[in-house]
Amino acid sequence: MSYANSRIPESAQQGIHENLAVRLRRHADFPFRKPFAPYNQTAFATAMRAWDGRVPLVLDAGCGVGHSTIALARAHPDAFVLGVDQSEDRLARRKPYPDALMPKNLLFVRADLVDFWRLLGDAGVRLWRHYVLYPNPWPKIGHLGRRWHAHPVFPALLALGGRLECRTNWRVYAEEFAFALNTLQNTQVTVETFCAQQPLTPFERKYRDSGQTLYRVIWNGEEDDDGTL
Ligand SMILES: C[S@@+](CC[C@H](N)C(=O)[O-])C[C@H]1O[C@@H](n2cnc3c(N)ncnc32)[C@H](O)[C@@H]1O
Repeated sequence: MSYANSRIPESAQQGIHENLAVRLRRHADFPFRKPFAPYNQTAFATAMRAWDGRVPLVLDAGCGVGHSTIALARAHPDAFVLGVDQSEDRLARRKPYPDALMPKNLLFVRADLVDFWRLLGDAGVRLWRHYVLYPNPWPKIGHLGRRWHAHPVFPALLALGGRLECRTNWRVYAEEFAFALNTLQNTQVTVETFCAQQPLTPFERKYRDSGQTLYRVIWNGEEDDDGTL
C-alpha cells in the first residue's frame, strides 16, 4: 500500500453493533477483575515515580511511536505526559527530535492498557487529559469485544475522568464510542468530523493525506473549578 493511499476499515458492520448495549450493561454491572500482570505493575510503579503527582497528568493511551506524546508534552509544559503502548518495537522507534530537544515532562511506558488503566484507577489517579488516538478498529463484526468501548475495561477507563478524546478514521468506531460513553455516563456527546491541520500522530497524517474523513469524540469528564480543562 502506498503512503497516501490508506484505506478506511472495511466492515460488514455499517452502524452501532446490535450487541453493544447488552455488553455495556454487563460491563457496568460486573466489575472486571482480571489479575494484573507483574510487568504492568512494574511499569505502573515506574510511571508513578516519574510523575511527581503535583502537576496535571495526561495519558496518551496506545501512543504507538510516540509522536503525539511528544507533541502533547510540548503543548503542555506544565503537565506530565505518559505515552503508553504495548509494543516495545513502536516505542523504541527513532523520534523526530534530537535527544537534547526532547521534552522532559514525558515518559514512555511499555504496558498493556487493560491493566494500566485499572492500576491508575485503583491508585486513585485522576487524569487531566486522556487521548485514545486511532485505536485498532477491529472492524470485523465478531471482534466487537476487542474495541475499547466494548471491552470490560471501558468503565475503568472512563472512571479516570478528565477530558477524554478518541480519534478514528472509522465512523462506526466513533459512533459506538460515543454511544458507550452516553450509555455509561448518562451524557450526550456527539461525533464530530475535523481537519487535522497539524496531525498529532503518524496514523492521522497518513489518513489525512489519503483524503479520509477523520472523526473524534470528546468528553469533558471533569471540569476544573473555573470551568476550563
Ligand atoms: C493503530 S495504532 C495507533 C498508534 C498511535 N496512536 C497513532 O495514531 O499513530 C494502535 C496502537 O495501540 C497499541 N495497543 C493496542 N492494544 C494495546 C493494549 N492492550 N495496550 C497497550 N497498547 C495497545 C498498539 O500497539 C498500537 O501502537
